[in-house]
Amino acid sequence: MAITWDPTLVLGVPFIDAQHEELFRRLDALIASIRVGRSREEVAHTLEFLGEYAREHFAAEEALMTEKGYPGLADHRLEHERFGAELRALLAEYGRDGPTASLIIRVNTQLASWLRTHIYRTDRALVDFLHPK
Ligand SMILES: [Fe+2]
Repeated sequence: MAITWDPTLVLGVPFIDAQHEELFRRLDALIASIRVGRSREEVAHTLEFLGEYAREHFAAEEALMTEKGYPGLADHRLEHERFGAELRALLAEYGRDGPTASLIIRVNTQLASWLRTHIYRTDRALVDFLHPK
């Protein structure tokens, strides 16, 4: 199952939506590289490539929340930190054990479902605050 972005994830803030799409592309590239049995360095590289972009994206969202005085900033930031911690744990696990089935499952469940849920719920709440209906 590929990790694909889909239009239900659109929040209506163009730079955030574009970054989410890129996150899904990098996540998909990570899963593809594990699945086709790329070398350890290549998989580690796709994990880092994803992590770098996630950091940039989270920082951009957090800067926006700070600028707008968003009251949910602290909780939102905690979720971002959890994702970062999970990525680091996966990178360490991968370095130790290589591409195990459990690693692939965790990438799918922890990272992909986390991202989806985070966008649907947490990022949506931010956008509703920025643009009340
Ligand atoms: Fe977020």
